[in-house]
Amino acid sequence: MRKPPRGAGLFITFEGIDFCGKTTQARILASYLKGKGYNPLLIREPGGDRISEKIRKILLSEKNANMTPLTELLLYEASRAQLTQKVILPALQEGRSIICDRYYDSTLAYQSYGRGLDKRIIRWLNQIATYGLSPDLTILIDVPVEVSWKRREKEKRKKDRLEKEKIEFHRKIRQGYLKISRQNQKRMKVVDGTEDIDKTWQRVKRVVDSYLIKSYSLVKE
Ligand SMILES: Nc1ncnc2c1ncn2[C@@H]1O[C@H](COP(=O)(O)OP(=O)(O)O)[C@@H](O)[C@H]1O
Ligand SMILES: [Mg+2]
Repeated sequence: MRKPPRGAGLFITFEGIDFCGKTTQARILASYLKGKGYNPLLIREPGGDRISEKIRKILLSEKNANMTPLTELLLYEASRAQLTQKVILPALQEGRSIICDRYYDSTLAYQSYGRGLDKRIIRWLNQIATYGLSPDLTILIDVPVEVSWKRREKEKRKKDRLEKEKIEFHRKIRQGYLKISRQNQKRMKVVDGTEDIDKTWQRVKRVVDSYLIKSYSLVKE
């Protein structure tokens, strides 16, 4: 598939299991980049566009617990196609930078490593829904499931039982993410997310700074 035209904007995505710290770090990065003179657009997946947000509601509604894995996959891809064509590509073409909280790696991690759908189908649908677009840099915030669960309980102020089945599901996703990162070492950087917000930010910052230095030196050459 032909790569869509790109402006000079950066496209950075955050990945990782729920409660690993993606949204927190994405916000800090947005204000860091603002300070460096970028004008980053912070968006989330699924969502980021009126129609995509409607699809998000369908996906996250507890009433839709009997949604099949395939329906779920197609809705995530539908939301992504809308967001990519209506928001991400136009912004990049204008030279704006984008920070996206989850993108297509989430689908491979959850729908394939988690739900067991065929990876080839997911890769193909990811290609279609993104128009072949890939992030410049993906930061995988890695934490053990137990750490994410403690944060979830703290935020929701209730003890939620982490049953064996739930642990296994989230462990599979974490392992899936680590595997994806090993297969995409150039684009995807793993950051240990087990320490506090500031220490984790220092790690994220190091990764972003080193990406910026490398891409600037490439431009100069
Ligand atoms: N490094 C961290 N240490 C402790 N708590 C954190 C850390 N990062 C985020 N949190 C808290 O954990 C919860 C989930 O963080 P969030 O950024 O929303 O995760 P995600 O977007 O990956 O689900 C929030 O209450 C947040 O304040
Ligand atoms: Mg979040």
